[in-house]
Amino acid sequence: MNARNVVLVDGIRTAFGRAGEKGFFWHTRADDMVVKLIRELLRRNPQVNPEMVEENIWGATTQEKDQGLTLGRTSAILAGLSEKCAGASVDRMCAGGMTAVTTAASEVALGACDIAIAGGVEHMGHHPMAATADPNPRFLVDRLVSEDALVMGKTAENLHDLYPDITKELADEYAMISQLKTAKAYQEGKIGKMIVPMTVYTREGWVVADRDQQPRPDTTLEGLRELRTPFRPLGKVTAGNSSGLNDGACGVLLMAEDTAKALGVRPKMRLVAYTYAGVRPEVMGLGPIPATHKVLTIAGLTMKDIGLIELNEAFAVQCIAFMKEFKLKSPDDPRLNPWGGAIAFGHPLASSGPRLMIHLMHEFTEHPEVTYGLTTLCVGLGQGGAVVWENLQGNGKRG
Ligand SMILES: CC(C)(COP(=O)(O)OP(=O)(O)OC[C@H]1O[C@@H](n2cnc3c(N)ncnc32)[C@H](O)[C@@H]1OP(=O)(O)O)[C@@H](O)C(=O)NCCC(=O)NCCS
Repeated sequence: MNARNVVLVDGIRTAFGRAGEKGFFWHTRADDMVVKLIRELLRRNPQVNPEMVEENIWGATTQEKDQGLTLGRTSAILAGLSEKCAGASVDRMCAGGMTAVTTAASEVALGACDIAIAGGVEHMGHHPMAATADPNPRFLVDRLVSEDALVMGKTAENLHDLYPDITKELADEYAMISQLKTAKAYQEGKIGKMIVPMTVYTREGWVVADRDQQPRPDTTLEGLRELRTPFRPLGKVTAGNSSGLNDGACGVLLMAEDTAKALGVRPKMRLVAYTYAGVRPEVMGLGPIPATHKVLTIAGLTMKDIGLIELNEAFAVQCIAFMKEFKLKSPDDPRLNPWGGAIAFGHPLASSGPRLMIHLMHEFTEHPEVTYGLTTLCVGLGQGGAVVWENLQGNGKRG
């Protein structure tokens, strides 16, 4: 069976709210956020008749309540897709949405369907991290993993131990740069166009959620220095150099390249290669390193060929470790997260993979000279995911 080329035609997201009662999505269901995105993807792409969408796959880490009941199927019905449209839910924690996209892309590549919608959602307010998980006691009794492996902030502290040269000062500097890049991107109007405004009921009444709640444009090194270290006394990981706890959803429209041509749709990027790789759970933040090495090998490329990198910022330390491995310019390589990352925007777990893709899609528009881009993230219990994309809005120059 020959694989077909798969293209990403469009991608959008909700604003990212703060998890909890103060967040603007507190009274909003996760599945309604997904429905909003499906409808908006179809509204923005009128060549795609809803009847044509054959598959709808969504990632969510907690698959129960408003994220349960096979979200891909429930959201397809709620969004008014055809009853013939199939639906599935997947979980790979923070890479749930990335896995939804690569799974849907694989289906398209093998001819199981021509057009698919895929994405990720996490309502961390309704589903606090691991709150209802029941890890097998053997993990700890048989010492398969240490207790740290189950608390992401502790895995970030472990990374600081592993790389003593990645100091707290460097992590704070990275975090401040991320916040400043995001503030600039917001000011320049780059972020608003990715967000679908959603009218939501909050404790202040009805409001329009059209701007992320997490960014702190006034971040300073002095402010970051003062923050407590919740994961270890006298540690290095703080609320300022970590991603936050957030509610949000991101989705993309995928199709076979031939289908896009037949419909007269102009795709934004082509999937070149993807992969996932495991690392020790206690240092899960290293995941993007082997995943990136592996995906570059699969794609027949090197880091020199990659003109733009969207790396999820679960923790600053883990991003700096990635930069060291691939010899990126410290503290701020122009190829890496040019509009900031999850430290500023927030990280609603499963939705972050597609967010990286949506950022890359818009960055490709602004950089026609770039041919290849990378989206990569780390995953709880020790994994990394990586996808290489080709810019279809480009002028053919490499790298
Ligand atoms: C680190 C963490 C525990 C902090 O949670 P929190 O205490 O609810 O975070 P808050 O946003 O309330 O911030 C805590 C404090 O830091 C301050 N703060 C946060 N970012 C700041 C910044 N950039 N500059 C200055 N102060 C900042 C807040 O104002 C707050 O101050 P206060 O206590 O005086 O109100 C939480 O965000 C976390 O667990 N993050 C990691 C998420 C994760 O593991 N994801 C999966 C990755 S694989």
